[in-house]
Formats: sequence, C-alpha cells, structure tokens
Amino acid sequence: MAALEVSDFAQAVIDRMGECQDARFKQVMSALVKYAHAFMREVDLTPEEWMAGIQFLTETGKKCDDKRQEFILLSDTLGISMLIVALDQARGAKALAGRPGEKPTEATVQGPFFWPGAPQLELGADIGQGYGEPTLYYGRVTDTGGRPVAGCELDVWSGDEHGFYDMQKGNEMHLRAQFRTDQDGNYRFWSIKPTFYPVPGDGPVGRMLDKMGRHLNRPGHMHMMLNAPGHERLITHIFVKDSPYLDSDAVFGVRNSLIVDFPRHPPGRAPDGRVLEQPYYTAHYDFRLVPSA
Ligand code: BEZ
Ligand code: FE
Repeated sequence: MAALEVSDFAQAVIDRMGECQDARFKQVMSALVKYAHAFMREVDLTPEEWMAGIQFLTETGKKCDDKRQEFILLSDTLGISMLIVALDQARGAKALAGRPGEKPTEATVQGPFFWPGAPQLELGADIGQGYGEPTLYYGRVTDTGGRPVAGCELDVWSGDEHGFYDMQKGNEMHLRAQFRTDQDGNYRFWSIKPTFYPVPGDGPVGRMLDKMGRHLNRPGHMHMMLNAPGHERLITHIFVKDSPYLDSDAVFGVRNSLIVDFPRHPPGRAPDGRVLEQPYYTAHYDFRLVPSA
C-alpha cells in the first residue's frame, strides 16, 4: 500500500467500511470521518491541541452521572441540540406539505431538568406558591388546522424566582406538574414568572464557555411538553418577553414565535375568577400540534 498523503486518510478510513451491512450507519460514519479530517486539516491541529481535546472530552465524561449530563450540555452550548431539534421539526413538518397555512408551534431544547412523573393536577391549580410572582398561564391546544386537541397532556416545569430547579436543590418536586386540556383544548394553571439563570458552569463546558468569552445564561422561560394521541410530541418553552439574554441564550433555544408578553396586573380578580391580594402576571399562548403521519 502506498504511503498516504494528508488529504488521503479520510477516504482510506471510509474505504475500510466495505463490509458494513448497515447503510445508514455507514452514511453517518463516512460523513463524520470526512468532516472530522477536514476540520483537523483546516486548523492544522497540533498533537498538543489534540491531546487537550481528548482530555477535555475525558473530563466531560467524568462529569456525567444520573443527575448531570455534561455531554448534552456540550451539545446544547455548541448549538448542536437546537440544530437536531430544528432538523427533526422540519422532518415532521413534511407531513404538512400541501397545507401551506398550517404552521406548527416551534420546538426547542428539552434541557436536563425534565423529571418524569410530576403530579397530575386539575386545570387552574397553582404550582408556584412560595416560589415567585404569581402568573396565570392559559391558552388553547389545537392541531395545525385549528381543531381543538382535547385531553392533551401538558407537562410544565421551570426554575424558581432565583433560577433554581427543584432537582438542583434536593429530591422534592416543585414548580412542575402535568395538566390535561379540556374538551375545547383549553389549558390554564398558575405558576411563577420565571427568571433568567445560568446553565451549570462548574465543569469542563463552563471552562470552555469562559475561554470562548461567552456567558452561561438562559433567558427566563417556562418549559412545556405536549403529548396527545394522534399528534407529534411537542417539546418547547414560553420565553418571557422582558427577560435579559433573549438575544444571547447560552443554548441558542430562543425562537421569536415563542416570546410572550407577561403583562402585570394590580391585585384583583384574574381572568379565571381567582381573586389575588397581590399583583400578578398573565401569559397567554396557543399551541398548534402536527397530526401524526
Ligand atoms: C434548561 O432550559 O433547563 C436547560 C437547557 C439546556 C441546558 C441547561 C438547561
Ligand atoms: Fe430551563
């Protein structure tokens, strides 16, 4: 075999997959090798830099356990998680080809703080008492054609007024619940107006961001996951319109269509009939789900 030139190694690796039986795996690995080699050649990577990269990935793995996933944080902060979300949503939206007016609600990252098995509560329940400023979330879930989606499961979760999730504080759930839409697809619940907060910065990804000259913050948001039979699952957020960092979310998750006004109201009767003795906020958002293919 002739000695390989710098530009030949990638193709040599790809050529070794002649016996590979899995066509999709072969496609993915071929592209990975092709672009990884092109990257090393483009930056003319030195052995010291390659070793620093390997050490960084090793530390990233060591920082992972059942509560912390530093590799997902790496993917999030490099914009890869949002790219995968956007590709997935574009694939799902192909089911809507030929129905140009039917735009689904945009998806965004799930993040590490989803905790399955949150309490199932009645519409209108308050999950925010003692954790921040009261906020009524309400709206309607329809399909992209405007038909109401009754019985849609709506998982909601957020950090507290200081930006901390329950999981970061201990083993007790709070500021999370599961609701079900009514016959007309309506939902409503009380929680808090979420504040901005930093993604975990005490690991290798935090050091990487610091060296990149980047901050750790995400703008205030309420997480929502919608599951309804006959519809594609939607994982998204509602972003608080007056929050800092909407233009520089550390994980690139902001979509303009997800930014919502949180008007402040004086004490009194809220739209759901509840009487509050303190000022409160409202956040109105209607969701549109893609019917399953
Ligand atoms: C979150 O919004 O909960 C989140 C998303 C990505 C990384 C860290 C946190
Ligand atoms: Fe979050």
